[in-house]
Amino acid sequence: MTEPFDLSGKVAVVTGAGQGLGREFARALANAGADIVVAELNPETGPDAAAEIRKIGRQALALETDVRDRSSVQSAVDASLDAFGHIDVLVNNAGITIWGEAENVPSEEWQKVLDVNLTGLFYCCQAVGKVMIKAGGGSIVNVASMSGLVANVPQSQASYNATKAGVIQLTKSLAVEWARHGIRVNSISPGYMDTPMARPHFDDPKVGGVWMDRIPMGRAGRPEELGPAVVFLASGASSYVTGSNLIIDGGYTAS
Ligand SMILES: NC(=O)c1ccc[n+]([C@@H]2O[C@H](COP(=O)([O-])OP(=O)(O)OC[C@H]3O[C@@H](n4cnc5c(N)ncnc54)[C@H](O)[C@@H]3O)[C@@H](O)[C@H]2O)c1
Repeated sequence: MTEPFDLSGKVAVVTGAGQGLGREFARALANAGADIVVAELNPETGPDAAAEIRKIGRQALALETDVRDRSSVQSAVDASLDAFGHIDVLVNNAGITIWGEAENVPSEEWQKVLDVNLTGLFYCCQAVGKVMIKAGGGSIVNVASMSGLVANVPQSQASYNATKAGVIQLTKSLAVEWARHGIRVNSISPGYMDTPMARPHFDDPKVGGVWMDRIPMGRAGRPEELGPAVVFLASGASSYVTGSNLIIDGGYTAS
């Protein structure tokens, strides 16, 4: 790590960091020097991820958190401040997808996707944003998706696509509002990533086959190919970057 990417002495809160991409982001931020708060719904994976971070040599705190619940988010922010005294980086990673044809999506499924992906993300931005405003700055990285820019096929996931488009626009809105407070707000938009959760889809030719045909680089992304982008946006290396959406999709949305 060269100096601009150094996160030594910084505290990063990562939502949904118990597994998958969030866990990878926590690992990457810790390797860049940050102490980590794992704000995770799952009471088993959160502490496990925190234990892994401690093995890297950083401090880590696992907090059982439901981003859909404003008071749960506030408790996590309060506990983070009690433990570390400051929050410098927020990575809003927690997210879910529920596939279903738009004409048949039940209202509770529609609402659940919105609650986690958009409203929950906003609650986290709001609670941590207040801390950062008081402190005079910080960096927020929102995990959007290429699905915020294109409607993927062959799966039907209108609710997911709508929330991720919302995340990209919310990111710009907060970046503009909070620039005067020294807070930078950016998003990343990954394409198809080869996570354990996604693997069964990749192995299904009717789904994964269609995906592969549309990725110019001809392969899924590896989770560790996203970590450096999050470190870039979290750190001083991106000191003049705000309101941006960094697409990391093997060229999918370019074709
Ligand atoms: N995997 C991909 O190909 C891909 C591509 C683009 C964007 N993304 C986005 O990346 C993020 C992570 O995806 P992933 O593939 O690692 O998913 P995942 O399902 O493996 O992990 C999501 C994590 O979020 C946690 N979580 C879910 N609901 C929560 C809540 N209410 N409060 C707190 N934590 C909660 C889960 O427990 C889990 O640990 C999501 O926002 C997703 O939309 C993923």
